[in-house]
Amino acid sequence: MNQENHLQNRVIIDKEVSWDKTQVIMSKTNAYGIIEYANEVFVDVCGYEDYELMGQPHNIIRHPDMPKVIFKVLWENIKNGKNFHAIVKNLAKSGRYYWVITDFEIARDENDVIVNYFARRQAVPQEVIAMHIEPLYKKLLQIEAASGIEFSEKYLIGFLEEKKRTYVEYIKELIFEHEKSQSKFATYTEEEDADEEEHRGFFSRLFGR
Ligand SMILES: Cc1cc2nc3c(=O)[nH]c(=O)nc-3n(C[C@H](O)[C@H](O)[C@H](O)COP(=O)(O)O)c2cc1C
Repeated sequence: MNQENHLQNRVIIDKEVSWDKTQVIMSKTNAYGIIEYANEVFVDVCGYEDYELMGQPHNIIRHPDMPKVIFKVLWENIKNGKNFHAIVKNLAKSGRYYWVITDFEIARDENDVIVNYFARRQAVPQEVIAMHIEPLYKKLLQIEAASGIEFSEKYLIGFLEEKKRTYVEYIKELIFEHEKSQSKFATYTEEEDADEEEHRGFFSRLFGR
């Protein structure tokens, strides 16, 4: 089933899947992104049965609101053996959407060739999506429609250059700042803000390692 096929018979519903956002959505693919395993949370949230997922390309849950350039950067990283945290809008079988942030682990064989990818995903705060990610992705999508991925990529590069951040640094910071603003009674010092360890600690907490 390719992307076009599965989107052809798909109704897009502008409603969020209701799911337990404390859970981790996990899947395992081969080196080409073909699904080999999905945990129960994955199956529950996307609404497909196990037998509908195994053997299918991961774009089975690709949402048409996702700009291509995000997946381009994602694949460039994971193919090079680098973890990548992307904020992704996914499409459930029902046509509803769910937003996640990804975390990858990469397995290699004895010749150092990549054999599997493990993706873990968690929920993203609604405010981060509404205030920062949706407006950015909407622009990227419009640019892609008008001038192609070459120019959505150039726009993304310019956007991040202006912020002096990589994509991953930018989204980590958005989530970190949001967490900080939520914990009104926590005391954050300037030193802690500047401390890389603190950022790493935050992400370890987010992904439980
Ligand atoms: C382990 C792994 C997990 C992935 N998870 C998702 C996902 O949750 N949602 C998604 O749209 N694409 C995911 N992808 C990327 C897809 O393989 C695909 O690149 C993306 O859906 C865009 O589709 P396209 O490449 O056909 O344009 C994942 C890839 C890998 C290797």
